[in-house]
Amino acid sequence: MSVYESWFLPSILDVVMRQKHLAKYRAAIVPAAQGHVLEIGVGSGLNFPYYGGGVERVIGIDPSPRLLDFARKRAAVSKVPIELVLGSATAIPLPDEAVDTVVMTWTLCSIPDASAALDEIRRVLKPNGQFLFIEHGLAPDEAVERWQHRLTPIWRRIAGGCHLNRKMDQLILSAGFEIKSAQTEYAPGPRPMSFMYKGCACQSQGRALRSPSRPDAGAADASRGPNR
Ligand SMILES: C[S@@+](CC[C@H](N)C(=O)[O-])C[C@H]1O[C@@H](n2cnc3c(N)ncnc32)[C@H](O)[C@@H]1O
Repeated sequence: MSVYESWFLPSILDVVMRQKHLAKYRAAIVPAAQGHVLEIGVGSGLNFPYYGGGVERVIGIDPSPRLLDFARKRAAVSKVPIELVLGSATAIPLPDEAVDTVVMTWTLCSIPDASAALDEIRRVLKPNGQFLFIEHGLAPDEAVERWQHRLTPIWRRIAGGCHLNRKMDQLILSAGFEIKSAQTEYAPGPRPMSFMYKGCACQSQGRALRSPSRPDAGAADASRGPNR
């Protein structure tokens, strides 16, 4: 990892992710978390103030030691107990069916193998658990989409692996979740970076956990387009 990625980028992310209009999304989604919560890509801990009384504890996982340092300071003043773990969403150090809620905000775009991360989320989520997400991704307008495909190879180099062109709802469905509620819209900002997907998903009862053949993996891969 370069000095830019390990040192400067975490500070940039902490500032960028504090933008006021993103707080509106956090406030709409995070308070629905209940029980034992796993936050994937916890970053600098900006969701902590939004966890409510129904949360027993939050485990936050992230591969960036520096972002976890920021998160540690916010965890110290959080009203819910927070445990921070250095690691990746593609190898979550928890047993099967361990958590009631998974929270993931603006993170699936940056995980190199998004499908593997979603498989892990399904594994650790209880059968009746909820998966709360806010992500940005592929826009429905052709002109914007074209720019997203064009910009992603450069953007991911400067923005911590972030892909602008992942079709988030399709990825989530392809991993075997059922989307209970979802909303998409443009947030303020440049359109290629600001098409938001927010919602709640649950385990699809008809799907086997970690199906070895992943019959719909092709759809997920197709949704990534030329962004890998
Ligand atoms: C744009 S930041 C969002 C941080 C935080 N979720 C927020 O809402 O402010 C993307 C986050 O994804 C994390 N990330 C990247 N790869 C990851 C992986 N394989 N597993 C878990 N988190 C990852 C980054 O370290 C970073 O914290």
